[in-house]
Amino acid sequence: MTAIAAMATKMRRRGLLAAIVALSALLGLLLAVTIHVLVSPQGAPEPAQATVDIGGPFELATHDGGTLSNADLAGEPFAVFFGFTNCPDVCPTTLWEMSEALDGLGEDADRLRVLFITVDPERDTPEFMARYLQSFDPRIVGLTGSEEEIAEIARSYRAYFEKVPTGDDDYTMNHTALVFLMNGRGEFAGTIAYEEDQQSRLTKLQNLLRS
Ligand code: NI
Repeated sequence: MTAIAAMATKMRRRGLLAAIVALSALLGLLLAVTIHVLVSPQGAPEPAQATVDIGGPFELATHDGGTLSNADLAGEPFAVFFGFTNCPDVCPTTLWEMSEALDGLGEDADRLRVLFITVDPERDTPEFMARYLQSFDPRIVGLTGSEEEIAEIARSYRAYFEKVPTGDDDYTMNHTALVFLMNGRGEFAGTIAYEEDQQSRLTKLQNLLRS
């Protein structure tokens, strides 16, 4: 009886060990695949520095009744922020900080596009965004579109957003609080964090305009 019990325990251990080995192998494989994808995005090795696959094509409605597409931004560096006008703190703070940064850039600010893309297109119509953006630097462009268009551009920037019910038929949105920096070639050039140091933010934008 004891021998059988011991044997059973041994077999269970072996089973567990086999599972651990298999899992480790799988994780190793996944890591190898991930590294491979990161190192060689398109097969042929690129001599230039590797670019991170963030950002993508879009065509959205602007707060002033026009449209803006990635093609319109060719050759122009830009900063993108995802948010919504009903946001209690993160969005107004970020838009205020970006307004301040545009001020700090002086004349160079005219070469930088700052885009505020809503993740709440249901409420954020162009008219609504226009009214909201009056509180900030007039060079900031509000963008909205269909839910599909917004989901697509957010996905291309790896920006997260989620509708969160707050009761009383109301809702708020959780969203990524990063400002994405894109160079004139439409390539990802870094991020600015929420409430990042003012000088650091300005330096990043100056570097972006120089790149
Ligand atoms: Ni927000």
